[in-house]
Amino acid sequence: MSIVYLNGEYLPLDQAKISVLDRGFLFADGVYEVIPAYGGHLLRLDEHMQRLQNNLDEIRLLNPLEKQQWLDILQTLLEKNPSEDQSVYLQVTRGVAAKRNHGFPDEVVPTVFIMVNELLPVNKEELRPGVSAITLDDIRWKACNVKSISLLGNILLRQQAHDRNAAEAILINQGKVTEGAASNLFAVINGVLVTPPTGPCLLPGITRDLIIELAEEHNIAYEEREMDEAELDSASEIWLTSSTKEILPVVELDGKPVENGESGPIWEKMIDIYQAYKAELRKGGSK
Ligand code: PDD
Repeated sequence: MSIVYLNGEYLPLDQAKISVLDRGFLFADGVYEVIPAYGGHLLRLDEHMQRLQNNLDEIRLLNPLEKQQWLDILQTLLEKNPSEDQSVYLQVTRGVAAKRNHGFPDEVVPTVFIMVNELLPVNKEELRPGVSAITLDDIRWKACNVKSISLLGNILLRQQAHDRNAAEAILINQGKVTEGAASNLFAVINGVLVTPPTGPCLLPGITRDLIIELAEEHNIAYEEREMDEAELDSASEIWLTSSTKEILPVVELDGKPVENGESGPIWEKMIDIYQAYKAELRKGGSK
């Protein structure tokens, strides 16, 4: 039984309970983070903490914990739930109000919940065969930069992909490619790695930013720019990126092969760079 953190206490998962009046439960009034840890070392912790702060600011909720408190809790939970690689899920909601009422309650005590799951090692050989994806109209709201716990749009889109035997839905907003239902997107277009720019239409992924940084460092040509659907169709490589998926090649889009239906050379290069980065972190480097 895993040990989780709920409002100041460490508890076995089945003993962690919240009120049905929690605004997270009633309104999805909260935000979350997913942070991977390799060999007990959290990847890009500062960036994840900064994104959490940005999200709390967006929803006008005061951060209930100081940075050091967050770090201490995360470290304690990693130790209480040992495994080689882990993924931390944390969420903060606007807490429990006396009555269901849309407006913010006068006094807010946020609910903080954190759990750790085993992250099965992702290796290059397992990723290489890639996955299929379908394109769908992006039905989500206009603040997709917020990592909101309201994921109804995302899960309906992901499920539509699954219903059509695809691993992910790639979302199109007014002709422009945004991201996956739970991932960011990169495509290789005329030999250049392209990813849509951050803004209200997509989540500023921590993995996305790391890949851009690694591309820069390793002289891989890249651009952050809008991409239309026709360009996506003509891409020689498509990747989905996230903290838990890392860099997953898409080899089939809407039933048609991407290039020759195999993962491409730029992915081969980037996944090696990414794995080397993780190996450094595992050795205890601060990354
Ligand atoms: N999701 N876009 C969306 C809509 C996402 O849900 C995610 C990640 C990403 C990638 O962000 P990052 O690189 O920071 O993981 C992009 C997480 C993993 C989840 O909901 O489980």
